[in-house]
Amino acid sequence: LSRILRRRERLSHLSTISQALDLFRTARNIIVLSGAGISTSCGIPDFRSANGLYAQLQQEGKYELDDPQQMFDIHYFREHPEVFYSFAKQIYPSNFTPSPCHRWIKLLEDRGVLLRNYTQNIDTLESLAGVTKVLQCHGSFATASCLRCKTRAPGPTIEPYIMSSQIPYCGSCRQKRDAEMEAKKAYKAERRKARGKGKGKAKGWGSGSESEDEEEEDEWGGGEPGIIKPDITFFGQALDSEFDECLFKDREEVDLLVIIGTSLKVAPVSEVLTHIPHSVPQIFINLTPVAHVHPDICLLGDADSIVTWLSHELGWKIPPPAAVAHS
Ligand code: APR
Repeated sequence: LSRILRRRERLSHLSTISQALDLFRTARNIIVLSGAGISTSCGIPDFRSANGLYAQLQQEGKYELDDPQQMFDIHYFREHPEVFYSFAKQIYPSNFTPSPCHRWIKLLEDRGVLLRNYTQNIDTLESLAGVTKVLQCHGSFATASCLRCKTRAPGPTIEPYIMSSQIPYCGSCRQKRDAEMEAKKAYKAERRKARGKGKGKAKGWGSGSESEDEEEEDEWGGGEPGIIKPDITFFGQALDSEFDECLFKDREEVDLLVIIGTSLKVAPVSEVLTHIPHSVPQIFINLTPVAHVHPDICLLGDADSIVTWLSHELGWKIPPPAAVAHS
């Protein structure tokens, strides 16, 4: 009986693989939904694996976080920006090379069958691999914005701050604040001068006391100008509207959904599966199974190895690292 069961399991495994190969042969509009698992072979830890970023933050205990996810929580950031900026250089995309998975996504695009890559990753390795149809659902370090005046700056302007663990404050905010403080000072001086002239006229005419000036609430609350934060989506922040716009459009065209290297723990990206028509087949490629996910085909194992094997079986050639890194 066990031999029969093993054979049946092998056959169902083989049919799963042959089904997957047939789907890749026929699909014309593939959505690839990717997560941190496609960058682990580049040396970038994922978040929730046993050796992932959150486990590291917990074990290090260096940042006194109640929950490691606080590192990427907007409310915590507003209170303690120094914590994120003392950590950010560990995740800042520097000299990483795209993995076979990134290059496989580029291969799909080169073959004209990639509708869009929805990535949750902020390492920009998809773009480095030459993928143009990529939507960075959780943003990236490519730009940074002031939390107060929303002025957006190119990401590299805050790189020196990230590398030296300093908090970048907003220059335009500071100029605006200084100008307003100057104007307020001049206005108060004017008022004091005017009160001085009027003193002999009528005793008690308006108190005009100095303290009146202090009563006006200083718009800056005496605080610093705006803090600049990389445009990566923190917990507690909404995704860019582009995510909904793309999904609304793509759901009409997609004919295969490939979910790769993600635990699908974070909405709204994890809900993409429910927004795609049930008629669209779903292939899940991941090191570990994910309880709440019921794809049509589940290929468990190392993502790089699986996409490399699939490409070989399909007679497709994943571009070598050098070719895509400079394309
Ligand atoms: N091959 C295949 N799968 C892998 C590999 C690999 N080499 N390495 C890791 N994985 C799998 C893990 O088993 C895990 O299921 O990738 C998944 C990564 O899951 P997470 O660490 O939760 O990362 P991700 O799903 O991308 O997180 C989503 O959570 O913290 C937020 O904003 C952050 O974008 C991130 C979001």
